[in-house]
Amino acid sequence: MRNFLTHTLSLLLLFQYYCTTTKTLALAQPAAAAAPAPPGPTNITGILEKAGQYQTFIRLLKSTQVANQINNELNNTQNGLTIFAPTDNAFSSLPSGTLNSLTDQQKDSLIQYHILPYFLSASQFQTVSNPLRTQAGDSSDGQYPLNVTAVGNQVNISTGLVNTTVDNTVYTDGQLAVYQVDQVLLPLGVFRPSVPPAPSPSEQQKKKKSASAAEGPASTTPADSTSGSLAMGVSRDNHILVFAVVSVASIWWSL
Ligand SMILES: *[C@@H]1O[C@H](CO)[C@@H](O)[C@H](O)[C@H]1NC(C)=O
Ligand SMILES: *[C@@H]1O[C@H](CO)[C@@H](O)[C@H](O)[C@H]1NC(C)=O
Ligand SMILES: *[C@@H]1O[C@H](CO)[C@@H](O)[C@H](O)[C@H]1NC(C)=O
Ligand SMILES: *[C@@H]1O[C@H](CO)[C@@H](O)[C@H](O)[C@H]1NC(C)=O
Ligand SMILES: *[C@@H]1O[C@H](CO)[C@@H](O)[C@H](O)[C@H]1NC(C)=O
Repeated sequence: MRNFLTHTLSLLLLFQYYCTTTKTLALAQPAAAAAPAPPGPTNITGILEKAGQYQTFIRLLKSTQVANQINNELNNTQNGLTIFAPTDNAFSSLPSGTLNSLTDQQKDSLIQYHILPYFLSASQFQTVSNPLRTQAGDSSDGQYPLNVTAVGNQVNISTGLVNTTVDNTVYTDGQLAVYQVDQVLLPLGVFRPSVPPAPSPSEQQKKKKSASAAEGPASTTPADSTSGSLAMGVSRDNHILVFAVVSVASIWWSL
């Protein structure tokens, strides 16, 4: 009985060692690329100021009071935060007057949409399920859904209005991750496209024809292979979890 217990335990330990080693390897790259943590409590505006090129985002974080909220959350949360920080270029490439046309509430929603209420390491983008939940709330269609698709180092983000990529890790400390994005993530919940005038019947007919012609080849291959490999990753994880649970159960059993 003793022997069996030791055996099971060492298997479990070996397994745990394997898990932590793989995790560390996967996380090593983004952590090494990021700036070292400044002393004292984490200060989001301080981090962004140090990184440069985020003046507009900093101004919005301050004027909406979200900067204070972030610093408080970081001091109180166990889950951490992930922030997508648009560069000054991202803001200046918006149509002029875009920000000025927003109400305070809409500005707040826009900024909260760039924040996830949990820490995501660069490698975790591979395994998230869409749509992601942001601090803007409602992630249903037409509101504040944020989709991520990742293959290797390439991480694409889609809001339904904007497609962009996660470019750089600005900062990460295991609790807060800040990623550079080169476009402002415009949520449908704030920037609904204006409804175009209804097309005339003859135009509709033409559209239908060209749409069905385009559908065949366009809707196959690349997306399918992506979701296939993601699904595989998930089911393998489940398998490992089951294995761990069984090992623990067998220890209990032998006691
Ligand atoms: C955060 O950093 C900014 C700029 O470095 C500074 O102005 C601000 O007072 C700091 N806030 C806190 C709470 O330390
Ligand atoms: C962080 O939280 C602790 C306890 O929750 C509190 O005592 C401390 O003043 C907080 N620090 C800041 C900088 O808010
Ligand atoms: C990301 O978007 C680019 C450009 O649209 C595309 O070429 C690439 O395949 C996408 N990558 C993923 C992982 O979806
Ligand atoms: C986001 O992903 C969900 C689930 O895969 C999908 O239903 C939705 O249409 C996607 N939205 C966008 C804007 O890509
Ligand atoms: C974003 O990408 C999706 C899928 O690749 C495409 O259908 C959509 O038209 C793109 N949207 C924009 C605004 O580029």
